[in-house]
Amino acid sequence: MSDEVVTNRAVTYANNTTPATITSSKLDLKTCYKNNELVIEVHAAALNPIDFITHQLCNSYIFGNYPKTYSRDYSGVIVKVGKNVDKCWKVGDKVNGVYGHIYGKRGSLSHFLILDPAKNVAITHMVEVPKGENDPYDDFVYAAAWPLTFGTAYSVLHNYKKKWSPDSKVLVIGASTSVSYAFVHIAKNYFNIGTVAGICSKNSIERNKKLGYDYLVPYDEGTIVDNVKALRKSKLESEKFDFIFDSVGNHDFFSVMNRFLKPKADDSFYVTIVGNEKANYENISWKSFISLGSISAALNPFKSFNWRFASPTPSNNFIEVGNEMIKNGTYKPPIDSVYEFEKFQDAIDRIKSNKAKGKVVIKMK
Ligand SMILES: NC(=O)c1ccc[n+]([C@@H]2O[C@H](COP(=O)([O-])OP(=O)(O)OC[C@H]3O[C@@H](n4cnc5c(N)ncnc54)[C@H](OP(=O)(O)O)[C@@H]3O)[C@@H](O)[C@H]2O)c1
Repeated sequence: MSDEVVTNRAVTYANNTTPATITSSKLDLKTCYKNNELVIEVHAAALNPIDFITHQLCNSYIFGNYPKTYSRDYSGVIVKVGKNVDKCWKVGDKVNGVYGHIYGKRGSLSHFLILDPAKNVAITHMVEVPKGENDPYDDFVYAAAWPLTFGTAYSVLHNYKKKWSPDSKVLVIGASTSVSYAFVHIAKNYFNIGTVAGICSKNSIERNKKLGYDYLVPYDEGTIVDNVKALRKSKLESEKFDFIFDSVGNHDFFSVMNRFLKPKADDSFYVTIVGNEKANYENISWKSFISLGSISAALNPFKSFNWRFASPTPSNNFIEVGNEMIKNGTYKPPIDSVYEFEKFQDAIDRIKSNKAKGKVVIKMK
């Protein structure tokens, strides 16, 4: 046996009737990677709702019973480099990124992650996060905490509307989510968007004001349509929005869209990253995501507004934009909580609570 055999522990599941558990396998670090691959020893991984959503939707008849590994966001240190890998990646480099997969045998909640950096291009060299005096987290925690949410928010702002300006007006449904945290920072500090209004719970209004939203209205007092209507009248001189971004799953504006969103001819967009409904995290079903409403919103060529479903597109180089914003202090990844690897279930429960303010991160080491 090679002297470089290690135990690779990972959080995996077989299907939606089996729980997430820690499984172990032997990995020979001399032979486990191809010429175009890197081996990363993972130091931290962050959870996203997609992790437990895909788990709960995993029907064994469709997706099989092989072990599927949790998580996509990672930070860690390169321990092996294949001979055909770009020379910018070296043993000892600290890196972070998103490992994109659905039901992958490999995922980031694993002590070792093997990937091809030419294919999994959302990978970068870690940068130091400017920290406050009593900052409890290290750079690996921060580095694991942002790629997927930042990449989603950046892709929403970058990929649809052609031009942003200080006159642009944006409405965010779900102002407290981690994706929206990145969204408001990118909107204000990178695209110089003049007005960003948000909708969140009344308890989160004070917290979210500090993130840069110009106006906030609650979703749990009155109706959101009436609250936004009152906001437009009192603060926006009744002007309509150039862009509505939904990061929770909502359809409240659909029947009254022309009163809130500028016409299509003005390059306006309604972009969701979830769909038309808020999913019940305790009882996830395909119906929450693939409803008739979502299908018709996606396919109906006669709809009166530009509706899009967005996801992160690494080709737009969001990973380098994120690094730049972290370095220049205009974006600091938000951390809700950090868990030891063995306590992964507490971390999953925390994100499932739908109350996290920032990322739920798992430390592997
Ligand atoms: N399409 C994609 O590629 C993609 C990528 C990333 C994420 N997503 C999806 O985007 C959503 C957000 O992800 P995330 O990780 O940013 O979420 P998150 O950080 O876990 O969001 C938690 C926050 O959601 C807020 N919230 C709960 N119920 C709400 C409601 N009914 N209306 C408005 N806000 C509510 C809560 O704040 P309050 O105090 O305001 O209630 C809570 O703090 C998830 O559904 C996720 O699956 C999609």
